[in-house]
Amino acid sequence: MYTEKVMDHFSHPRNQGIIPDADAIGQVGNPKCGDVMKIYLKLNKNKTGDDVIKDIKFETLGCGAAIATSSMLTEMAKGKTIKEALKIKKLDIADALGGLPEPKLHCSILAHDALAEAIKNYQTK
Ligand code: FES
Repeated sequence: MYTEKVMDHFSHPRNQGIIPDADAIGQVGNPKCGDVMKIYLKLNKNKTGDDVIKDIKFETLGCGAAIATSSMLTEMAKGKTIKEALKIKKLDIADALGGLPEPKLHCSILAHDALAEAIKNYQTK
């Protein structure tokens, strides 16, 4: 059973779509379930020179929990510096959604990994 928060983010996903002039893109897939997540980042520097996630969007082809974790991840990461965003742990997203059924916990990990890939993409540019 999904929590109300999961159902809310699944039915009304936040920050769904693409950023055409994104500064970085991260894509990951889970070969077992076939779900794919893509994260787009737009960044700018704050006064202290840290990179801040000004905008973040996602495209997810996958299960309801994958949509909900992508949506929640974008809310958690938006406005954070890269350093702060990297502190989001694999299961923090599931926790923020009030929990996920055990077989769906990997959806939280996939969302985490998609953001990590996007940040890596930015840092290696
Ligand atoms: Fe694999 Fe949701 S079932 S990401």
